[in-house]
Amino acid sequence: MAGTTEPLLLTPTKQRHRRSGYFAWGWKLAAAAVLVMLLLLAVASPLHHHSLPETVELTLLTGAVEKGAVCLDGTAPGYQLQRGSGSGSKSWLVHLEGGGWCSTLEECFNRGMSPLGSSNSVEPIQFTDAGILDSDPELNPDFYNWNKVYVRYCDGASFSGDTEARAQDGSTVYFRGLRIYEAVIDELMEKGLANATQALLTGCSAGGLATILHCDDFSAKFPRDVSVKCLADAGFFIDVKDISGQRSFWSQYDRLVRLQNVSEVLPKECLTSKNPTECLFPAEIIKSIRTPMFILNSGYDSKQIRLNLAPNTSGPDNAWLSCRDNIRNCNSTQIEFLDEFRNTTVNELKVVYDKKGWGMFIDSCFTHCQTIYGISWNSPVSPRLGNKTIADVVGNWHRGGGQGVKEIDCEYPCNPTCSSLLHT
Ligand SMILES: *[C@@H]1O[C@H](CO)[C@@H](O)[C@H](O)[C@H]1NC(C)=O
Ligand SMILES: *[C@@H]1O[C@H](CO)[C@@H](O)[C@H](O)[C@H]1NC(C)=O
Ligand SMILES: *[C@@H]1O[C@H](CO)[C@@H](O)[C@H](O)[C@H]1NC(C)=O
Ligand SMILES: *[C@@H]1O[C@H](CO)[C@@H](O)[C@H](O)[C@H]1NC(C)=O
Ligand SMILES: *[C@@H]1O[C@H](CO)[C@@H](O)[C@H](O)[C@H]1NC(C)=O
Repeated sequence: MAGTTEPLLLTPTKQRHRRSGYFAWGWKLAAAAVLVMLLLLAVASPLHHHSLPETVELTLLTGAVEKGAVCLDGTAPGYQLQRGSGSGSKSWLVHLEGGGWCSTLEECFNRGMSPLGSSNSVEPIQFTDAGILDSDPELNPDFYNWNKVYVRYCDGASFSGDTEARAQDGSTVYFRGLRIYEAVIDELMEKGLANATQALLTGCSAGGLATILHCDDFSAKFPRDVSVKCLADAGFFIDVKDISGQRSFWSQYDRLVRLQNVSEVLPKECLTSKNPTECLFPAEIIKSIRTPMFILNSGYDSKQIRLNLAPNTSGPDNAWLSCRDNIRNCNSTQIEFLDEFRNTTVNELKVVYDKKGWGMFIDSCFTHCQTIYGISWNSPVSPRLGNKTIADVVGNWHRGGGQGVKEIDCEYPCNPTCSSLLHT
């Protein structure tokens, strides 16, 4: 239930005005004036540096429908591709959108009427002020001129299910995330991904989990001399008891695995000794991943605290409502729960220290998804570890820069760079 709330969405694109050739002169003057004003505004507000909205059109995969690669409601899935340029023209970043999961037939049926389950109502997002998707070299020095793809999420199971079911009204609900993922990658291959010299698979939240699930199979699609890496943002979901002592998040994953038949993508090594639900948790999956991966997560991930640690708002613990809403409202007993939650995350990530070519940035800021927002990725109020922003650390890891790319923050509230303006 909780998994379907608050879909992760960026601002939808607004219509841009087209300039008519007849009035070019007057329009140019007016445009110049507006531009000067915008520049002045940009200089005056460091948090919203540059900001001409950047429209990247939505492409629907209508040809993939016959292969069964469809959204929950049977419509064609989509993606937005922004072409790279210059030194980035053969570099590709593929970002898998997030937005929770649906793990009952009813939830999925309802989700099929929303942008996270249907392309009927989906709007393109802007690549402006969007962190790792930004094309401004100052804001996004390592990836600004890459080919960038924002793959829309409309299956409800982290691009990983493969089955279908009949809803109460007799219509079919399609669980075809795996086919969507394959169809999108196939089409991108034809559009130039096949000739990439370097590729990065990323995603946040449910898309971060998808990145972890697909990292090795993505990498296997390229020749050995291509540099392929993965960056999972806010996708490190952990298996813990909630505040009422129940494994409610595990139960949600258990329903998800069964309903949407999430099995193909789970690591074989894990499945030999554990049940599929346990193998959907990143702590298990990363044990067998061979591709270099960067794990970006807060130890106090705001969404996980809501979904996983304190999901139950019907109980007597009203105080948890305000604590879940803002960590500043938590009392000392609650902070202890949160610290324990973080400890589990940190312990499960210990294996990363032994993995060559991996990186991590585990801050202690109350936030969720830090790559796709300019404010957290690289701004004056970005979370910093060792005085470095996420853009610095990820860039350094990506360029292969030696030591210091595995960073774990101290316990909340020790990090003075954690801003209350971050996305939660
Ligand atoms: C890849 O490069 C080759 C050789 O330059 C070219 O013929 C081919 O069309 C390219 N393929 C794609 C998908 O861009
Ligand atoms: C939520 O809290 C109520 C009251 O404490 C309890 O009866 C119920 O089992 C809890 N549900 C979950 C999913 O934890
Ligand atoms: C914090 O809030 C919880 C939930 O209401 C309550 O049970 C606990 O006693 C409080 N702890 C302190 C130290 O006030
Ligand atoms: C978390 O781990 C630290 C270091 O191992 C330990 O000192 C602390 O007591 C733990 N906190 C909780 C709440 O378990
Ligand atoms: C942190 O980095 C900024 C700019 O990168 C620099 O100006 C500042 O001196 C650094 N602070 C410390 C404490 O190293």
